[in-house]
Formats: sequence, structure tokens, C-alpha cells
Amino acid sequence: MNPKSPTKTELPLYKASPALEAIDIAQQAQNDQRVYIETYGCQMNVSDSELMSGILTRNGYEMVDRVDDANVVLLNTCAIRENAEEKVLNRLVHLHHRKRRQSDLVLGVCGCMAQHMKTKLIDAAPYVDFVLGPDAYRNLPMAISSVTTGDPFLGLKLDRGEDYADIAPIRKEGIRAWLTIQRGCDKMCTFCIVPFVRGRERSIPMHLLVDDVKRLADEGFKEVVLLGQTVNSYDDGTHNFGDLLFGMSEVEGIDRIRFTSPHPSDATDALIEAMASCDKVCNQIHLPLQSGSTRVLETMRRTYTAEAYRELVAKMRAHIPDLSISTDVIVGFCGETEQDFMETYDLMAEIRYDSAFMFKYSSRDGTLAHKTLDDDVSEEEKGRRLKEIIALQENISHEINQELIGETVEVLVEGESRRDPDNFQGKTDGFKTAVFPKESSEIGDLVGVKVESVTAHTLIGSMVAAPE
Ligand code: SAH
Ligand code: F3S
Repeated sequence: MNPKSPTKTELPLYKASPALEAIDIAQQAQNDQRVYIETYGCQMNVSDSELMSGILTRNGYEMVDRVDDANVVLLNTCAIRENAEEKVLNRLVHLHHRKRRQSDLVLGVCGCMAQHMKTKLIDAAPYVDFVLGPDAYRNLPMAISSVTTGDPFLGLKLDRGEDYADIAPIRKEGIRAWLTIQRGCDKMCTFCIVPFVRGRERSIPMHLLVDDVKRLADEGFKEVVLLGQTVNSYDDGTHNFGDLLFGMSEVEGIDRIRFTSPHPSDATDALIEAMASCDKVCNQIHLPLQSGSTRVLETMRRTYTAEAYRELVAKMRAHIPDLSISTDVIVGFCGETEQDFMETYDLMAEIRYDSAFMFKYSSRDGTLAHKTLDDDVSEEEKGRRLKEIIALQENISHEINQELIGETVEVLVEGESRRDPDNFQGKTDGFKTAVFPKESSEIGDLVGVKVESVTAHTLIGSMVAAPE
């Protein structure tokens, strides 16, 4: 039932060189398996799916874009809230039907939910062929090929030495590339499952990352988004996050650098200096608040107070002109009173974020909050609080965007607008979506767009000369 996971050394080591990659593919293309990866959750999972594509392609598997074309389906899953796991369980029921019709279909569950549920996933869905956590992707070829043995393959060992630094991900073409610079998290916020499913924090050496960025520039990418759970605690033993931003800014051909998500407690002066002085580093930060109540922040073990957060925002705004700030907020955490909630509401109103991701607290089995605190805010009350801050934030986002009417913003053209093929869409430096008639611009251009009208989420305008 539970075959021993192979050790890393038993598996081939891959080189990132495209030439060697081609030889690998030629030598290893020994099967006709076509793999479709369906990705759930955050950008880190999108990046991990690219990594999985890299591993599989070099082992002779063909990657396909449609589930109908596949005979191997991998779900790369999320465990952050209960509804993320429910979504995948529902999807599995669907895929089970497909498996009944398509007898050679291989079904693997990978990522955070796999690591979280472990064998419980097999109990819930016995037709799943393998379950692989985030540190076990090197085992993908073995997991797929072992399906004939009948027993589900389990790869659930977290490995603090695994950074996949030697594996070249396969990215979809585009102008924005996601680059994982760090894996895992050492922070242990009491509500959060991430440290349990992604393991301890580890950073990829800076020289490899700078080489990656050079390669991305050669491939035509214009923007790089650095990813890590607490991305600004990056530390490769020699370099900190500020060093990395300075180093990457030197790379020619890349116009913009962003990162997500930093932790407020690791927002050092080195980070602020790098943001203020590197032109390519966008004046935009996603700075998760979680709660505006210091008492709640303490029970969450967020390691900062509301006051310290407020001061940090003031300091960043003082040093970085036109800084665009977004955040994450949780309502209804264990013991959150109306007073605590109002402190969150008031702090959001005071800071005036450009945008926010807002969530109802979802108790996660395995976390300290689940073990030691009462999930005592009712579902209805969580819903009411969530509605209130969403309404507040919508107003603020709309008002901030309205102030941009008549201004010219710099937009990196990403592609056709989903609603109108005559329009292009792209992001501003502050990561706001802008839509404008195509005219003579091309994908990948940096253009000036004069804002004519706005919604809470989009700027609508037309092209003019780019701002100085
Ligand atoms: N440091 C990571 C956090 C990942 S989780 C990052 O920012 O990349 C993303 C967000 O999900 C968190 O900031 C938090 O607001 C929310 N979240 C995490 N655990 C949650 C839970 N148990 N219930 C509700 N929201 C949660
Ligand atoms: Fe989760 Fe806190 Fe880390 S939110 S990812 S434990 S910083």
C-alpha cells in the first residue's frame, strides 16, 4: 500500500542548459503519455506547475493544454482554506467519472492539499493513483510509471534541502515570469497551514537567480515576479533580499521587477532602499496585515503590532513615491470581538489600500489555532464582517482610481483585453489593470496611457507618449 519513496539520488539530476535538455528529451522520450496539469491556489502553485512541467518534459512526457487530450491528469492543489480543498474533492469526483470511461487515465494529486491530507486523500478518493507533496516533484516520473503496480504511490516527505534549483521550469510564453526564490516558511502564524505543507524556509543562491533572470530576459520576458512565502526574509547565507533586488536590477532586457508576499516584520531598511533606488523595482507592495487589532495579531503570532505596521507603511510611503499598497485581511479569527474587528476596519480606512484580498477565517487541521483556540465567531458573523470590509475597500479602490483620471500612467502591454479584441490590457507600475485601444502598440511595449474613466478594479484610457 505504501511503497517506499525513492531517495533523491536514485533519480537523474537535470541540468538547466537547453541544449542538454534537448538531448535528455530525445533520449528519454519513451512513452506516449500526455500530461495535463490543473493548478489551484496561489502564484507559488503556478510556479510549481511550471517546475513539474520542466521535470516531466525532460523525462519524455508531453504536456497538453486540454484535459481532453491527456492520459495523465495532475491536480496541483491548495490547502489554505477549507473551500480550496472542497473544490478539489469535487473535481476528483468528476475525474473519477472520466476515469471510468478512459481506463488508462492516470490521476495524481500534488501540492499543499496532498501534503495536508496525506493518506486521508486516498481514503476519500481511492481511485487516485498517487499523492505527492511540494518537496516530492522529482518523483513524478516514478509515480506515473509505478501506476501499473496498483498501489497508490505516496511522496510526502518534506525535505529542507530541496530547492529544485537545478530544474528549469517550462513557462507559458508571455511577458511576466514567476520566479520562485525561496520555498517554505518559518513564521508559524497560528492560523496558517503553509509551514506544515511546505516545510522549512530555504532560499536559492543569488547567483543562480540572477542567471535565471538573464535567461528570462533572453526568452523575451519583460517582467519578473519573485515568489516566496515571506519573500523578503530571503537569505542565501551571503545575500539578503535587498542585495537580490539590486543584483536583478542590473539585468538588461527586464523592465520590471515585483515580489510577493513580503512579511511586515522582515521589511528592512535594505528593502525600502532597494525599492526606492532601483528604477526597475516597481513602486508596489503587497503587505499582508491580517488584522488591525494588536490583541488578535498576538494570538495569530504575526510578530508585529498594529502600531508597528502603521509606522512601517508611513515610512515606506515617505521613501517610495506613489507607492501602491495591497494587503490580505482575515475576519472572524478565534476570539475576534466586534471591537477587534472595528480596529481592522478603521486601520483599513486609515491606510487606504489600493486593493485587498479579504477572507473569512477557516480553521485548518494541524495548525496551532486549530489545536488550542476556539473557532468561536459564527459563520454568519464572519460573513457580515467580510461584507463590511469588502464594501469599504471597494469604495476606497474606486476613489483612489478616480484620482488617476486625467493622469498618464505607464503600462506594460500584456495582451488582448478579454472583453474587446480591439483593446489591449496591461498593468501599471502599481499593478493596476489598464485597458486601452491597441493603436500602434505591441505586446511587451511600455506605453503611456491617459486615464479617462475607472472602476474599482480597472483604468480605462488611451495611448499617449509615455510619462518621463
Ligand atoms: N506568506 C504567504 C501567505 C500565504 S496565505 C504569502 O503571502 O504568500 C495567503 C493569505 O491567505 C494569508 O495572507 C492570509 O490572509 C490568508 N490565510 C491563510 N490562512 C488562512 C486561514 N486559515 N483562513 C483564512 N485565511 C487564511
Ligand atoms: Fe502562513 Fe504566516 Fe508563513 S501567513 S505562509 S505562516 S508568514
